[in-house]
Amino acid sequence: MAPRKIIIDTDPGQDDAFAILFALGSPEDLEVLALTASAGNTPLAVTARNARQLLELAGRPDIPLFAGCPRPMVRPLITAEYVHGETGLDGCDLPPPRIAVQAEHAVPFLIRTLMDAPEGEITVCTLGPMTNLAMAMVMEPRIVPRIREVVLMGGGFFEGGNITAAAEFNIFVDPHAAHVVFGSGVKLTMVPIDCTYKARMTRQWIARLRGLGNRTGLQAAGMGEFYQRYGNTKFATADYPLHDPCVIGYLLAPQLFGGRDCYVAIETTSPETLGMTVVDWWGVTKRPPNCRVLRDLDSPAFYELMLERLARLP
Ligand code: BDR
Ligand code: CA
Repeated sequence: MAPRKIIIDTDPGQDDAFAILFALGSPEDLEVLALTASAGNTPLAVTARNARQLLELAGRPDIPLFAGCPRPMVRPLITAEYVHGETGLDGCDLPPPRIAVQAEHAVPFLIRTLMDAPEGEITVCTLGPMTNLAMAMVMEPRIVPRIREVVLMGGGFFEGGNITAAAEFNIFVDPHAAHVVFGSGVKLTMVPIDCTYKARMTRQWIARLRGLGNRTGLQAAGMGEFYQRYGNTKFATADYPLHDPCVIGYLLAPQLFGGRDCYVAIETTSPETLGMTVVDWWGVTKRPPNCRVLRDLDSPAFYELMLERLARLP
């Protein structure tokens, strides 16, 4: 079978970095057509730089990077340097990127690419706030049925939120964008913190990553250690979840994940619950499902797969 064509919209972020490297280490399964940078964990200029550094680390300077919207659709930008450090990729040591940002903006790139491709061919993965994809859907609604599937990291329901009591970071930063995407009718799979909290990265796994002997493993281990330090203040264990690579893990090995089709609404008005993903897990609203919501994960198998794929990179 031909590899699945994907575009990764991302705001790296150490966990975005693991996701990107996981995908690039899986060329027989996934063809990464492009990365598009969103503002999120850090401002757009930083995420666009980080994305290019990661492409070079993985030995894939041929994959283009398009920079998207510098701020959410309605609200001002909120960033998360307190999690990821000032560079967004604290813990690694990468040279300034040599490849350039593409001249075209990410939104027209998404529209052009989706309109030109056969219907149902391209999967869009979003690992940050969904501003770029939502803007593309607003500008050209005909892209919606052309998308094979959107797989997004974002939201939370039984676990509540991670930036407010009710909201997860990616949805909270741009709830209006999430509202557009969830209301679009596109085939949608959501990977919320209820699922990603089960993807706990252990110290032993980081040690194995460091021991792979390739440069990618070394740099990724550094990022993992930095990221885990923040996690140590949150969870009772030394382990800390890597959120975004669950999106790639789901594309590669969906049998490792469990979930349900649900109706999901995004809260865009209440000040207390802004950005909450209101998941009708029990089907009480009787509204037709608009999203596959993942909740379960075989974490050891997921981390084995990621290690195997990262080992293939330079
Ligand atoms: C999400 O927020 C970001 O900080 C991470 O990169 C991830 O995409 C987790 O809530
Ligand atoms: Ca992210």
